[in-house]
Amino acid sequence: MDELNGKKILLGISGGIAAYKSIELIRRLNDSGAEVRVVMTKSATEFVTPLTFEAISGNPVHVEMFGPRIKSAIEHVELARWADLIVIAPATANVIAKLTHGIADDLLTTVCLALTDIDLAVAPAMNLGMWKNPATQENIASLSGRGIKIWGPAEGFQACGEIGSGRMIEAAELADHVRSYFAVNQTYGGVKVVITAGPTREPLDPVRFITNRSSGKMGYEIASACAERGAEVVLVSGPVSIAAPEGIKTIDVETAQEMHDAVFANIVDADIYIGTAAVADYRAATPAEQKIKKSADELSIELTKNPDILADVAAMDTPPFTVGFAAETNDIEIYAKGKLQKKKLKMIAANQVGVSGTGFDSDNNKLHVYWNGGDRELPLASKAELARELVALIMEHYDA
Ligand SMILES: Cc1cc2nc3c(=O)[nH]c(=O)nc-3n(C[C@H](O)[C@H](O)[C@H](O)COP(=O)(O)O)c2cc1C
Repeated sequence: MDELNGKKILLGISGGIAAYKSIELIRRLNDSGAEVRVVMTKSATEFVTPLTFEAISGNPVHVEMFGPRIKSAIEHVELARWADLIVIAPATANVIAKLTHGIADDLLTTVCLALTDIDLAVAPAMNLGMWKNPATQENIASLSGRGIKIWGPAEGFQACGEIGSGRMIEAAELADHVRSYFAVNQTYGGVKVVITAGPTREPLDPVRFITNRSSGKMGYEIASACAERGAEVVLVSGPVSIAAPEGIKTIDVETAQEMHDAVFANIVDADIYIGTAAVADYRAATPAEQKIKKSADELSIELTKNPDILADVAAMDTPPFTVGFAAETNDIEIYAKGKLQKKKLKMIAANQVGVSGTGFDSDNNKLHVYWNGGDRELPLASKAELARELVALIMEHYDA
């Protein structure tokens, strides 16, 4: 499979002659299955029209920081969050200088400044004199020192008539850089992750059951984020109304006992276990074989404890790196930390439920992640973004 398949690339285009080469770059990235969104500087629009890039990328092109076309007040943050990688090609001497000094006076540089853990690559393109200028050279050294990837420039004939260093590398070479970037970053080939998601259903009789509120969205997004990083994923899912993620082995179960069995059939060689499922703590001791009739004014049902899947995984002789979830309505920190210690987990992701706009059926969520000796808040974001941030955090600690 091409490493670029399904990748989200934000392409920044600044005002240089080489802007026309980005048309071919987009085509190449698209052909390999990547999705490209374009942010142009105002100067760049003097060289190639936004309409050209809209037509080639199939997505609206972003230029303005302010104005009627802006759909969201935090478009710059959303664009930075959306991307797996930001590539600026061509990168003018001016943009390189602005990135060096943290200047954010247009949409492209503001998006770059809003980056948190997304990587940035620049493909310098400029006249020989601009490239050789000590200011540019110092800026490039500074960006490189901060981990920003510098792809190029190449030597050769320049639009100004000179011959030397400063040409933007060709689209094919740039696409190869992007491809190898993802190949190197898919370092979780060989890592097996077992994830549980959704609720369980514990039958009371053939037509009724006890369950927990859970859409399964967070677990499904975490499964996709792990697969994105090249991990082998087994998703054990309770009944949900969302489609199984593509390319991920999904095992459908109903009860807590079935979930327990499916997890233990797959856990022996697993490296990481992430329990997001809302497993029912109790089940009916003896579910009725026939539908329970409405007769008596009061009805008691005897409940018995379900197996604690998370605790059982963490208690294995050689347990995987075990991550739990805690959905709490109050005193989140106390309950989450308690669960971390009691169940001997490596990490726990806590979220507050019962507030509108987050949790259960919402597409957004926020988490507070705790581990022994540390914690991190992952602020409100789409569940897809949050899943990627959480998986990055898990991988950081799993590797440590
Ligand atoms: C015809 C023309 C070609 C240019 N080519 C480049 C170039 O290749 N690289 C560069 O750094 N600047 C180039 N410039 C200068 C930039 O367009 C100028 O510095 C501009 O302010 C850059 O804005 P931006 O970085 O916001 O896109 C060129 C200017 C003109 C008029």
